[in-house]
Formats: sequence, structure tokens, C-alpha cells
Amino acid sequence: MDHFLYRDGALFAEDVPVAEIAAAVGTPFYCYSTATLERHFRLFDEALEGMEHLVCYAMKAASNQAILKTLAALGAGMDVVSGGEYARAIAAGVPGERIVFSGVGKTREEIHAALSGGIRQFNVESEPEMAVINEVALELGVVAPITVRVNPDVDAKTHAKIATGKSENKFGIPISRAREVYAHAASLPGLKVIGIDVHIGSQLTQLEPFRLAYEKVAQLTEELRADGHEITRLDLGGGLGIPYTRSNDAPPLPTEYGALVKETLGHLGCEIEIEPGRLIAGNAGIMVSKVIYVKEGEDREFMIVDGAMNDLIRPAMYEAHHDIVPVVEAEAGIEKRRYDIVGPVCESGDTFAKERMMEPIAAGDLIAFRSAGAYGAVMASEYNSRPLIPEVLVNGDQFAVIRRRPTLDEMINRDTIPEWL
Ligand code: LLP
Repeated sequence: MDHFLYRDGALFAEDVPVAEIAAAVGTPFYCYSTATLERHFRLFDEALEGMEHLVCYAMKAASNQAILKTLAALGAGMDVVSGGEYARAIAAGVPGERIVFSGVGKTREEIHAALSGGIRQFNVESEPEMAVINEVALELGVVAPITVRVNPDVDAKTHAKIATGKSENKFGIPISRAREVYAHAASLPGLKVIGIDVHIGSQLTQLEPFRLAYEKVAQLTEELRADGHEITRLDLGGGLGIPYTRSNDAPPLPTEYGALVKETLGHLGCEIEIEPGRLIAGNAGIMVSKVIYVKEGEDREFMIVDGAMNDLIRPAMYEAHHDIVPVVEAEAGIEKRRYDIVGPVCESGDTFAKERMMEPIAAGDLIAFRSAGAYGAVMASEYNSRPLIPEVLVNGDQFAVIRRRPTLDEMINRDTIPEWL
């Protein structure tokens, strides 16, 4: 459920007409709903009720300061994967003890910054990384709390580019080697082993892969305890999928996911962390774009819009489907037409949808890409020298620009010309 609904034929973001925002900020832009962000965070928080837990929002999904502050105010922790994300979380007022540091290649500098500024734990991805965290901790005279990310060799049954839990993926250490790696970690004086971390992929639409992974984590917890390690915290990663279409085969709900966590891991008495990103932000955001031209093709029409693959790369990169709806609803019963919906970038890959049946659209009309709140703005680039598009946050009947559109001069003047030119 989200808060982008039609009222009398006009698309609203909560209580604000989307067309009104478009008139104020120009197109294209991203628009987020506070109520949806809050609702999705609470769903997870409530799903884990009864277990000691922390929901650490995977801020890679959408990392605007205003979004982080909205979630942090509800008690969210943050899952960060770079020094940049760590700095953003701190800047948004998230205390270090609520920030977990994931990511497959943390640099010495990033580790240093997190250990100096405060960190809940590092999710260690390899033995060489473990050695560096130990060294930096000793240099600073602190002890770094760690979990080790284990790779359970489970098929997440999702798009290959976002599956992370198979042995062929670059993530974590093979679960078969875990006991050996934990023994090594326990021997390093700069580290304190506190738990286990696992994350098997993103946009999972079934619970079964989670079950397989969590059962393996439960077994490993018992084995590590028998080896003398104090395992008090389990970080279960993110990955629960969202409905991108309004069909019947919706992914499992957070409540069902929470029940699975309790069933597979509840008996261990560990504190649970989860790292959802997409489910919190995905359906809390839309990208609004204006139709520039409608061009006749041989067997279809091309709807050329002012948003492009640099603004929302998911269709080009993952063949992802986004529902695309008009901001002004068409009259009931009007015959649909067949459109390829494309951006202006000079690549055929700049195609948002092929042969999409939609109500007739004309140049100047506004359309909205639904489910664009996660992995939308954060994956944008300035390809074709298109400035990053603004982000807007709605809260009830108010809205605010939370990142403005840079001017062309600002974009160009980031370049510097060498003296010899
Ligand atoms: N934790 C870790 C360690 C992760 O790598 C990720 C996502 C998450 C949590 C959050 O997963 P989520 O709950 O959002 O599924 N750009 C792709 C998705 C990449 C996901 C990367 N890791 C897309 O647009 O589909």
C-alpha cells in the first residue's frame, strides 16, 4: 500500500496534487511520501515484536538526508556500505551505535572513520578485511565489534545482478569455512566477535530462500557457541521484495517474514537485525516526467518523455518493470494505445517500457513511474550532461524540495581546465 492515489481523476501524493509539485519544481523529479516510508518501517518493526531487534534501513536504496531523518526519528538504525553513506547517516543525526557497516571492500580510511565516529558493528566480508579492521582498531586503541558475513550458498531466485547468496557471488565467506574464520577472528585482539551476518539477495518474492539461509545460520550459531564464541546478534540482511505490478502474486508481507525469523531463529535468544531497503523506500516514491513528443512508429507509438535512463536506470539495467500511469486519469472506458515509453538519451537501452498499453497520451501530459523510491535517485547519473533531477518529500498537505535541481553552470563548473589549455 502506498499514498499515491487518484482523487477525482488527479494523482495525489498524500494530500498534494502531483501536478502542483510539477508546476513548482519542473520535471522530471522524484517524489516521496512520508506516510508510506513511516508505514513500511513500522511494518518491519512490528513484525519482529517480541524479539530484541533493530531495523537498520539499507540506505543505499534512497539516501537523502530528509529520508534518513524521517526514519531515524522512528528509531531506525542504518545499514551503510561506504564512507559516504556513513557520513550521510551521521549528518542526519543517526548515532554510531545504530549504524552497521556492510560492504565487500571497506577501505582502511572508511574503517578508520567509522571506528573514530562510532559504529554498531562491521559486517566483515573477508579475512584480509578482518585483518585491516583489527589493525585500525589497535592503532586507535579500541575494539571493533564484528559479525562475519557468511555466504550460505542459497539460490535467492531473483535477478542474477542482485542475487548475492550463491557460492559464485563475491559476497561473504563460504559458510563451510565459517568455524575456521571465526576461530581466527577470536584470536585478533582488536576485534570482538558478536554475531553472524547473512544477506542473500534483493527483490526476493518467496520466503523459501530466506528459510534455507536462516536455518543454516541457526545451525552455525549452535556450532560457533559450541566452539566457545559468544553469538548474541544475528544480522539477517534485507531483500524482501515489493509488488512492482498490481497483480495477485504479491511477495510475502513483512509479518510473514517476521514469523519466519521467529520460527527459524527465535529459540537462539539473539538480538535480530534486519536491513530492508527496497521495501521501505520502493513504493514510497514515484518519478514524475513530462511527455515531450508522441512519435508514430510502424506498429506502435513512441512516447518520448523528459526522464531518461540516467534518472531511473532500473529498466535498462535489470529489465525491471515499473507501472507508468498518467497524472490525470483518462476517462473510464477509453481505448488504450500501444506505446514504447522512451527517454531522450542516445541509446536504445533508454527504454522504460515496450509495447505498454496505456490510455492515449499527448505531448505536455505528465506521467508517473511508480515504485521508483528505491534504487532510483541514488543510481542516477549525469549521462548526456543531464543534471541530477530534484527530490521532493511530501508530508500530509505539505511538500518540500529535499534536493534541488542543479543549474547547468553548477554542473559544468565542477570541471577544471588544466593550465596548458
Ligand atoms: N543489505 C545488504 C548487505 C545489501 O547488499 C542490500 C542490497 C540490502 C541490505 C538491501 O536490500 P533490499 O532490502 O533493498 O532488497 N539496485 C538494485 C538492487 C541492489 C541491491 C543491493 N543490495 C535494484 O535496483 O534492483
